[in-house]
Amino acid sequence: MRRPLVAGNWKMHGTRTSVAELIKGLRQLALPTGVDVAVLPPCLYINQVIQGLDGKALAVGAQNCAVEPMQGALTGEIAASQLSDAGCTLVLVGHSERRQILGESDGVISRKFAAAQSCGLVPVLCVGETREQREAGKTLEVVGRQLGTVIEDLGVGAFSRAVVAYEPVWAIGTGLTASPEQAQEVHAAIRAQLAAENAEVARGVRLLYGGSVKAANAVELFGMPDIDGGLIGGASLNADEFGAICRAAGN
Ligand code: PGA
Repeated sequence: MRRPLVAGNWKMHGTRTSVAELIKGLRQLALPTGVDVAVLPPCLYINQVIQGLDGKALAVGAQNCAVEPMQGALTGEIAASQLSDAGCTLVLVGHSERRQILGESDGVISRKFAAAQSCGLVPVLCVGETREQREAGKTLEVVGRQLGTVIEDLGVGAFSRAVVAYEPVWAIGTGLTASPEQAQEVHAAIRAQLAAENAEVARGVRLLYGGSVKAANAVELFGMPDIDGGLIGGASLNADEFGAICRAAGN
């Protein structure tokens, strides 16, 4: 059995004051015991969140890391080794906002994935198609290529210490959610692509769904056989809503 994971991606949201409020709300949550829960604040607030959540069974991660694993001359970036030093245990790589707005390529994302793993962080590889790609019937091809680059570059074994998040771009922050069946189809394809290389790795890897997940749709999505939890954007900024989503993963 794969243990569900729910991770809250705060994106570029927060101030010291609003982060303190959110920490307070998170501390009060009754979290299910059978679910791994994580939050991914902006880097500036990682220390505040780690200190504020001390003693609470909640992991903290980052939304991005540098292509180079170790500290050095790379202005404006943060190394996976530094995230690990700060107390992070996981990091997103290849979120669609970074692919689209910042032009991150599959090759760059592979390097970040490797950098994260080399510092003991669990990379959460984000994949997903745009609305145009879905309408053109290219969803599985696009997702297959995004996943395939990392498999080719690092080998399927890398996925024994990683998580994959399927996030259809058209469902992110739009209020449109993939139906449980649409999401399951892509999750099954991702697992099959990994299984073609190594069945054991495929069976063990957690595949999260992301894109307008709320407490109201989480139970149905998490009920699908290949959906092992969620990557939550907007709804993770509200502690009570986030807590309800975490409990849905425990059902
Ligand atoms: P959303 O974002 O839940 O606000 O749609 C999800 C994400 O981008 O990770």
